[in-house]
Amino acid sequence: MASGPDNIHQSLSQGKGQIMQKIGILTGGGDCPGLNAVIRAVVRKAINENFSVVGFKNGWMGVTEGTGAALDMNSVSGILPKGGTILGTSRTNPVKAPDGLEKIKRTFDKFELHALIAIGGEDTLGVARKLHDAGLNVVGVPKTIDNDLQGTDFTFGFDTAVNIATMAIDRLHTTAEAHNRVMVVEVMGRHAGWIAVYAGLAGGADCILIPEEPFDIDQVCELLKKRHSRGKNFSIVVVAEGAKLAEQEGGLVVQNLKKDAFGHARLGGIGNMLGEEIERRTGFETRVTVLGHVQRGGTPTAFDRVLASRFGVAAVELVVRGEFGKMVSLQGNKILAVSLDEAVKEIKTVDKELFSIAQVFFG
Ligand code: F6P
Repeated sequence: MASGPDNIHQSLSQGKGQIMQKIGILTGGGDCPGLNAVIRAVVRKAINENFSVVGFKNGWMGVTEGTGAALDMNSVSGILPKGGTILGTSRTNPVKAPDGLEKIKRTFDKFELHALIAIGGEDTLGVARKLHDAGLNVVGVPKTIDNDLQGTDFTFGFDTAVNIATMAIDRLHTTAEAHNRVMVVEVMGRHAGWIAVYAGLAGGADCILIPEEPFDIDQVCELLKKRHSRGKNFSIVVVAEGAKLAEQEGGLVVQNLKKDAFGHARLGGIGNMLGEEIERRTGFETRVTVLGHVQRGGTPTAFDRVLASRFGVAAVELVVRGEFGKMVSLQGNKILAVSLDEAVKEIKTVDKELFSIAQVFFG
């Protein structure tokens, strides 16, 4: 998986004693807890390595428009525990516009950028890969609560989202039990069920539905009836927003058919649909909670702060070593690097082994 002997914490040979070069940085796509921790780490490490840093506002929009500002020690002071991103973000896709690439090249010239560090998920890093192919010095940092990027065991932000969802499930448990209800919890994750499986396992869900395993509503109802027939009078069902009904029932449920700049429809709605059907088919009183953007907000967990800081430091090390077209990655407990090609080739979906462990606790 890793390209070459890639422990990127080897001794650094460049950067010191040279003319100060500039590194650009941007945060793109949906925000995610830990973004500020990466920005802070990049700035601190870059300054240690004798680079200066330019931050671009609102993802690729700022790079395309050439609106950047210097980031120094003061700019990143106190931001480690803060959610969101001090740089702002957007789902702008610069390579959709015919002159997008040219504009980015002009920004590289205008700011005399030696390299650009792009912090993002599959869309943002897909653009980064195209820029690398076009000859620009780019390095990627894997960000997304969805944990669906290849080449890294975890993306930062995922752990925080899982903790928020787990806490919600714990709380839903007590009220479900008090009222003898079925609680359906819809979580994010787009086309991967990582948040659903981890939060469902951690929260003791009685059924978890993920995009990787299309489901049949009757089978879900049978499972709940069986559980209730053995004396349990409440249940928790965790459903990923991208979970799909098996062929005979329909397909993906979307909130909005309108696509974003990267071609994604807005997912959501499966929880409400499922809740109504469970109540109708089983007669069990059912309530639905859609966690939504709560999963992306607020302070990152300690795990995400540490991972984000390690990623930020490692991204600068890649720049110093001239290893472009790569994304920093967590493999086991090591921070390594993989090619951007590998990272964005296809999404990383939940592995069957993990899901089969979650299934042991169904019903
Ligand atoms: O990719 C992160 C994510 O939160 C997905 O889980 C979700 O489908 C999507 O972003 C929501 O995007 P937006 O913030 O644009 O509504």
